[in-house]
Amino acid sequence: MNRHFIEETDLTATEFREILTNAIELKKSWQSGAIRDSLHNKTLAMIFEKASTRTRTSFAAGMAQLGGHALDLSPANSQLGRGEPITDTSLVLSEMVNAVMMRTHSHKTIVDFASVSRIPVINGLSDFLHPCQLLADMQTFVELRGEVGGARVAWIGPGNNMCNSYIKTAQLLDFTLAISCPDDVLPNEQLLASCSAHVEMCDSPEDACRQANLITTDVWASMGEETDGDRLTASLRPYQVDQALLQLAASDAVFMHCLPAHRGEEVTADVIDGDQSVVWQQAGNRLHAQKSLLEFLIL
Ligand code: CP
Ligand code: NVA
Repeated sequence: MNRHFIEETDLTATEFREILTNAIELKKSWQSGAIRDSLHNKTLAMIFEKASTRTRTSFAAGMAQLGGHALDLSPANSQLGRGEPITDTSLVLSEMVNAVMMRTHSHKTIVDFASVSRIPVINGLSDFLHPCQLLADMQTFVELRGEVGGARVAWIGPGNNMCNSYIKTAQLLDFTLAISCPDDVLPNEQLLASCSAHVEMCDSPEDACRQANLITTDVWASMGEETDGDRLTASLRPYQVDQALLQLAASDAVFMHCLPAHRGEEVTADVIDGDQSVVWQQAGNRLHAQKSLLEFLIL
């Protein structure tokens, strides 16, 4: 059966955990200098409608490290920019490559693309979700603190694509997501309702952070929301993650941020550059988590 990774729940909890376990193995093996060619002769097409540093680099390097190849497509350098239908592009790529990773403005574009695809389709970020980031975040937590099930995770900031992905993952992996966000930037309503057993909507960032094992946040204006930047900044100003919030968390709490970050906005420099921040390990784990995902989907 052709599998996709468009949302976290395209995997069972067991599969999600197995991918994390393999990611940790792949990381050790790569760091030891071992050669692996599990994806020899395989090609991944990457379609980017929006900018990317980590996603682009980790998928390209990951394919190369597994003996395969990645191809960078965007509307500007393909016929997508000249109006070729997304489903025609999907049918063509199914004839030529082994998987597709897409970063799109609209989540529906990925769903439409996948609806006719005969090869695995991976969501590399949409306006709704960012599931690859959650693989890396969960790998990082497991490496540092062990099991994430039962943990308390605090989301401070906009109810955006990353927040939605945390909600889905809380339900899948059985942790509590304590969310503090302004009323005008709430997460997806349907998603909140369907995952309510694993989500706590908090009245303040302080309430969310109290006894948290992980605190995470994201930029106030996501890609595509820049024109709304002033409103978002005004709403989110009281939601900056600073030392005072971190002090309320469990003593061994870690701070994560999917990056890119804006120091002095959603997080203070002393938090993101401080001892409890694990953002560089988290970013590096994009590579290993996605290599594991690629093996799961392609092999
Ligand atoms: N976190 C993340 O997806 O980063 P990029 O936008 O650089 O890919
Ligand atoms: N919420 C951010 C995440 C970037 C990785 C965005 O969509 O721009």
